[in-house]
Amino acid sequence: MNSSPLLYSSREANASYKVIVDYAKLKQMVLEPGALVDLDKTNYIQIIDQACDDGFFVITKEYIANYKRLQTNIIPVDEKPMERIEVPDKFVEVQRSKHIYAQEIDADIKIKHECDVTGKLSTIGKISEFQEYFRDRYDTLGGMLRKRFSVQTSRDLNKHIQKNEDITLLGMVKEKNITKNGNILVQLDDLEGEFKAVIMQKDPVLFDAGLHIANDDVILVKGVKLGEGIVIVNDISYPDMPNRTFRKGNRECYAIAISDMHLGSKLFYEDAFQRFIDWVSLKNNDDFDIVEKIKYLFVPGDIVDGIGVYPQQINELKVFDIYEQYERITAYLEQIPEYIQIIIGPGNHDAVRLADPQPAVSKEYAKQLYEMKNVHMVGSPGWLEVEGLKTLLYHGSSMFSIQGALKLEKTKPELTMKEMLRRRDLSPIFGARHPILPEKGGYMLIKEEPDLFLTGHIHSNGYDNYKGCVLINPGTWQGQTIYQVEQGHVPTPGRVPIINLSTGKINEKVFIDGVKI
Ligand SMILES: [Fe+2]
Repeated sequence: MNSSPLLYSSREANASYKVIVDYAKLKQMVLEPGALVDLDKTNYIQIIDQACDDGFFVITKEYIANYKRLQTNIIPVDEKPMERIEVPDKFVEVQRSKHIYAQEIDADIKIKHECDVTGKLSTIGKISEFQEYFRDRYDTLGGMLRKRFSVQTSRDLNKHIQKNEDITLLGMVKEKNITKNGNILVQLDDLEGEFKAVIMQKDPVLFDAGLHIANDDVILVKGVKLGEGIVIVNDISYPDMPNRTFRKGNRECYAIAISDMHLGSKLFYEDAFQRFIDWVSLKNNDDFDIVEKIKYLFVPGDIVDGIGVYPQQINELKVFDIYEQYERITAYLEQIPEYIQIIIGPGNHDAVRLADPQPAVSKEYAKQLYEMKNVHMVGSPGWLEVEGLKTLLYHGSSMFSIQGALKLEKTKPELTMKEMLRRRDLSPIFGARHPILPEKGGYMLIKEEPDLFLTGHIHSNGYDNYKGCVLINPGTWQGQTIYQVEQGHVPTPGRVPIINLSTGKINEKVFIDGVKI
């Protein structure tokens, strides 16, 4: 096999070819028998991408030969290897003489596998599955509202309610328009029929709430009957969270969060990330009184950059092998003391399907992570209990769709997280660019009230508290990509939120001072 164009000389040929075959599968391309050996690490992405752009489904030896003949300007690959990370002999000389609080307490963590799609993927995308998905969504979200309100129906509206009489109705939004008089007209469906709800512009608070109604929202409207099938609205309610304060964890200890490291990208901040690893590992004793209490590390996705995720990503990649990307991120995480529990969910750059809900990154890609005793791999969304606190990890792939539909600020992920909690749905917007598959089980619905809610995806960090739930989006460890420049996304890399689980208070440690891109 010496003459084979191995992708990495240190690997078996089979594993190397698998990377190419996996990439071809990702692009929904088929390789002609024998064509595989004509592809290697310097060209396989460009050739597969080009064949895809050219409208081919099968990549033949002839196509590859032609490509090579015509191609005089293959994008140069940065051959300079990333520096290998030396993994020290586990943890840590410095602290042998000290007591470390988090080392002396047992972890209090329970993964809620029943709320996780990992190992349960079943949908094939049939229309009947989507119908069932929407029906289940309506029943679950409507059920939350029915617990708080006595609800009538569109049939009552037409048969039993007189003009100007009060009525309370539940429905799923089919359509929203502004009338020629400047009022909002919402068309709703409550399974017994349809009705229209008018929100008058003369009430600015109510009108503003009306502007934030999105298609497919399940809402409750209180109002008075105006006529057949139509009400004037005087109040709008969402399934929402109950008013409450933070429940407080069992003990005085801390959790931290990082996300969107995008290891494999040239824009990954290696040095700053190593500084973070050294800090959390107490290698330099900085902030000892705080760091010794860190017991949990949440990582809601995009731990690697992946391959072929966005147009021209090849130009911004430094590690071209998805397996090696996971090996390298593992080498960082292995430096963290084993008493810190690390909970990792997938993101849209990770080696899992793009559509929500996403299963955990599999052992096939992240074998070394699975071998770490203190690592817990979950899906997105993933639920767990930490120190008695209900904790929800969701990468946040739906967040741009929600920001677009509700016109929310892109750099304030906490606003989007509040809208998810208000709707009790992690993916309330359908038909946008973010794909959702109708898995049985309602995984995208927020059926219980979380105490901690962590997302990633938006590379700007943001923290808040919404009705007793602490919201955390840690930002990123990647600089601004060309794609993000085009999309207007401004990252805040190298910031680590520190959550006191007994109070819900958040502090932040900054590892890239002053960097705004
Ligand atoms: Fe990301």
